[in-house]
Amino acid sequence: MTSQSDLLPLLSAQRSGMSLARPFYTDPALFEADLDRIWHREWIFAASIAELAKPGAYVTLQLGKYPVVIVRGADGEIRAFHNVCRHRGQRLCPKASGNTVKLVCPYHQWTYETDGRLLWARDMGPEFDASKHGLKPVHCTQAAGMVFVCLAETAPDFAEVKAAADRYAAPHRMADLKVAHQSRIIENGNWKLVLENNRECYHCAGSHPSLCRTFDDNPDLVGADDSLSSPAGAAHVNRCEEAGLPSRYVIGGDEQWRLVRIPFVGDAVSYTMDGKAAAPLIPGMPFANAGTLLFFHYPNTWNHFLSDHVLNFRVLPISATETEVTTTWLVHKDAVEGRDYDLTRLTEVWEATNDEDRRVVEENQMGINSPAYEPGPYSVKQESGVIQFVDWYVRSMIRSLAPKGQAMAAE
Ligand code: FES
Ligand SMILES: [Fe+2]
Repeated sequence: MTSQSDLLPLLSAQRSGMSLARPFYTDPALFEADLDRIWHREWIFAASIAELAKPGAYVTLQLGKYPVVIVRGADGEIRAFHNVCRHRGQRLCPKASGNTVKLVCPYHQWTYETDGRLLWARDMGPEFDASKHGLKPVHCTQAAGMVFVCLAETAPDFAEVKAAADRYAAPHRMADLKVAHQSRIIENGNWKLVLENNRECYHCAGSHPSLCRTFDDNPDLVGADDSLSSPAGAAHVNRCEEAGLPSRYVIGGDEQWRLVRIPFVGDAVSYTMDGKAAAPLIPGMPFANAGTLLFFHYPNTWNHFLSDHVLNFRVLPISATETEVTTTWLVHKDAVEGRDYDLTRLTEVWEATNDEDRRVVEENQMGINSPAYEPGPYSVKQESGVIQFVDWYVRSMIRSLAPKGQAMAAE
């Protein structure tokens, strides 16, 4: 077990370009440190706004140690709260999602308005002040049609990523999309292995036969570098920009997030087995062959915005060696299943890809669990995205250890 005082030496010993030392992937104490220093401090993608389409719609999630509920109020506002009753602490909403007029605690039926106010508590006496027992709020904002929450007392600035992500996602009309499908899988691997695996396509040719029909594994397109360094990427970005689609590579927030639009292989327009569209063109998109707009925000989301559908991916840590990955497929709200799109056709490529990624992550974890594991070198050509993620992680952890004044001086 690594104590938190061992953390700085471990982080400082980490060499850029090498995978992390074993405890970062296996140690429960280090997992706790990840929760406290990353997951309980950063903005975390929680739900697609399409999951909260109507007043009273709610989604719950377990964010590290904290159960959280996100609810669209009767006034249309989306808010987040600690999912903990102010009476004796029952988890207020036990279900993953639902629709409700009021939030009613299942234990003794304390009843909250969807804006968090306590409305009713039986037999609490004349002295009881309901206004002091509203639900505790959690920071909540939206970007690119995605709801983000933050557990920190003071949330990090989100204005830059919000402005950029809203602008890039605007042609995909996130407010007019609906959930076509959602899948939730558990991967028996550390959350950083899930992120690392996502940040490279070195493994794609060997692992993803269906994805590789449409997704180009050229590292110059999908790596950390500006896609304009690849002629195919540059041509695609220029063509899309001319048609009014924000597409140029942009990275910000100490490299915590990135947006870029990349082309598919050949004439493909969507993640399908034949490369043809899976759903009707989203109104707002000028043409079908717009490739995919990639948006990641560390520590927990990567996304694909296509001309016919959008994929939101949400990663949540469960333990040092267990991670939940939720995938949401969104199509235009007027599209009718069976008539305008076939669910199998829409989902089969990423259902297969997720399962293939789960297997490589789990095998990666099994190998790292061995005392014989030692950090190995990343390929600069193929794994620049992994290096970029791991460097961000190490920097963020080191920054979180600095005394407050020092951290501010360094920024
Ligand atoms: S704990 Fe919620 S009403 Fe008692
Ligand atoms: Fe993969």
